[in-house]
This record gives sequence, structure tokens and C-alpha cells, in this order.
Amino acid sequence: MKTQVCIVGAGPAGLLLGHLLRLQGIECVVLERRTPDYVLGRIRAGVLENITVSLMERLGLDARLKAEGLPHAGFNLADGERMIRIDIAELTGQQVVVYGQTELTRDLMDACEERDLEVVYGAEDVALVDIESDTPKVTYLRDGVRHRVECRFIAGCDGFHGPSRQAIPADRGQAYEKVYPFGWLGILAEVPPCNHELIYSNHERGFALASMRSEARSRYYVDVPLTDRVEDWDDERLWDELAVRLGPEAAANITRGPALEKSIAPLRSYVFAPMRFGSLLLCGDAAHIVPPTGAKGLNLAASDVYYAAESLTGFFGRSDNDAVAGYSDKALSRVWKAERFSWSLTKLMHRFPEDGPFERAMQKAELDYIASSRAAQTSIAENYVGLPL
Ligand code: APR
Ligand code: PHB
Repeated sequence: MKTQVCIVGAGPAGLLLGHLLRLQGIECVVLERRTPDYVLGRIRAGVLENITVSLMERLGLDARLKAEGLPHAGFNLADGERMIRIDIAELTGQQVVVYGQTELTRDLMDACEERDLEVVYGAEDVALVDIESDTPKVTYLRDGVRHRVECRFIAGCDGFHGPSRQAIPADRGQAYEKVYPFGWLGILAEVPPCNHELIYSNHERGFALASMRSEARSRYYVDVPLTDRVEDWDDERLWDELAVRLGPEAAANITRGPALEKSIAPLRSYVFAPMRFGSLLLCGDAAHIVPPTGAKGLNLAASDVYYAAESLTGFFGRSDNDAVAGYSDKALSRVWKAERFSWSLTKLMHRFPEDGPFERAMQKAELDYIASSRAAQTSIAENYVGLPL
């Protein structure tokens, strides 16, 4: 088949981009390796910045988000002794919305048929061909038959392990990477949250986060050594650990319940630059990973997609070649700032095994400074709600 843009991957990045392009009348097809149920089974973060909400608004797909999303005016940093509330509404005039990535993906998925966005699920062995030329192709296997998509651009929205970034010759880009010495063990449970706002806690036993999906569904995390396995943590052990790490006030309000989902995710900071190579544009996790501290992953995918849609619209609508040429620099400028914020919040809130008394004293001093400085709180708040596009 022939189309204008072939999108690889139907996660949030691929589906958002597909819908934005269709809104502009640009032809595209999305190729996804998995089934819709598999894609919806992946539990990820759930804090949306304004830019992500406004993309859903622009698409007219925000009805459920508006009805069910929980606006949050602040969040908390705890350090075992105190809670520092970051009043993001007062400090920035903005809010974030707690709405699961799964729900956002479902909204985008449900609208595909009506919006005439074609998604091919079960596309195996996707391969990108001639990406440096103006006539790239994507081939894939479906039901044992090889298909070929001829297009003008490929959008690589296929996550960290997908084939798009790997199609770029190693000597034509640079990878920047930091791997952290722990992972986050997460639990999802049908119980009311222990606090109406998120709590990020740096306790001597390690990090903990109290989050939520709704008034009736909670999401919690603790950091664990990379050698730990989910089986090492039965529900009771995890609830006990959360109660200790979140501090007595939160602990008193924790409602325990059986895990609907429990998994360990490693933490990584990663950027691949540039984010465009020839006719291939990388978006979302295909180009970069942030540690989940600060919940930037999905929001960064949304800002990439915003820039990618602008570039492609410029190209197809106004024959503006520079629009595509500028994609990588624009996207990366925002990516690096979010990488910095996620990394610094991770360093502030976790006990690294290699850290000694000096590093701990620095954490304490920084938390003291944040507690006493409106400027420091404003800096955290403006990064948390998302920097401007
Ligand atoms: N062929 C086709 N599709 C593929 C292939 C492949 N070879 N490899 C991966 N994919 C698909 C995955 O199955 C997945 O549905 O690409 C999609 C990528 O989705 P995500 O991993 O969710 O990445 P992205 O859309 O960039 O979302 C970024 O969402 O997933 C979180 O942590 C992520 O929060 C971040 C944000
Ligand atoms: C979540 O609710 O899953 C979540 C919230 C905030 C984060 C990370 C994850 O920083």
C-alpha cells in the first residue's frame, strides 16, 4: 500500500500522532506488533501535563478525561520527618490531571474507526527500508504474508526496544545513557488512596510513592534492588514497607487490598540524538527514556508528537522542507530539560547504594532549601506541570 506517513507502534505516541495527522487530512497507517488488549494491559504512569490534556482537547477526545480525570493542584515531597507541599496551582497557575495512561490509550484506540485511522495490529517482523531516501518503505508480516508500505515519512513510535531507532546506523547518532541501581516495584489495588495528593518519599529504607488512578483505585511504588523479583514481595510485605517508608501520617490512612497488578520496572535515563534521520522521525520512548520520578514519560511522548505533527503538516500542507529539518532540535530541547528534571528528582528522592554521608547531607540540605524557598518550589512546580512547548 501507499500512504504519506507510516507510523510504527500504537502506544500513546503512535496513536496520538495518527489522530493529529488525520485531523489535518494527512494519510497514515499505524503498524503495531501486539494486540489491542496487550497494549492496554501495560500499566504505566498517570499524571498528565497541560500539553497532553490540550492535545486530547484538540482532537475532541477529552470527554472521559474531563469526566474522570482528577485535577491535582499540588503534590508532596516527604523525607521521613516532614512533608513539603508543592502548591503547583498557586506557584504556576496550572494543574496536572491524574488519568491513567491506559485510559488515555483506550480513548485514542476507541476513536480510530470513527476517525478513519487505520491501525494494523499483529504486524510482525517490521523492517524499515531506505530511510535515508525520500521514498522509505516499511515491511511487515501478517498472517504469514509479507506486506509493504510505501510512504514519504516514517514515524518511529515503537518504544525503547522497537526497530526504528535501531534502523539508524550507529555512527550517525549518539546515545546518552544512565542506568540506576534500583527499580520501582509498583502495586495497583482497588482501594482508596491514602492521601488526596501524590506523596514522593525519601525514607532511610528507600523511596516510596503514593499515587492513584481514581478515588477508588491506588497506585503505590517502592524502590527495590535490581536483583529483587516480584515473587519476593507478597502483598503484605509490600504494604508493610509502604507504611514505613511513607511515614506515620500516610500510613494511618493506607487501605490495604489485593494487588490487581504488581511489577518491577528498572529506572533509566536515555536520549538518542538526533531524533530525525532522513525520512525517519523518532517520537516518545523510541528516542528517550526518563526515570518515572516526575511522570514525564508520556508527556514527553506527547510533546514530541506535537512537534512531529507540526513538522509533517508544514511539509504536506505548505511544502515546507525546513519544518521537518527542525524537528529534532525542537523536540530535543524540551526532552533534555525533562531528562534533567527527572534525573534530579530521582537523585533527590532515592538512597543510592554508593552514596555516603556527604551525599545524604546534600539531599537533606536541598530538601531544607526547597522547604524554605518559594523560588525553589516554583522551579520544581514549573517543571512538574511541564515546560512550555
Ligand atoms: N513493530 C511494531 N510495533 C512495535 C514494535 C515492532 N517491532 N516494537 C514495539 N512496538 C510497539 C509496542 O508494542 C508498543 O505498543 O510500539 C509501541 C510503543 O509504545 P510505548 O512503549 O508505550 O511507547 P510510547 O508510545 O513512546 O509511549 C511513551 O508511554 O509507554 C509509556 O513509558 C512510556 O510513558 C512513556 C510513554
Ligand atoms: C503513577 O501514578 O503511576 C505515577 C505517578 C507519578 C509518578 C510516577 C508514576 O512520578
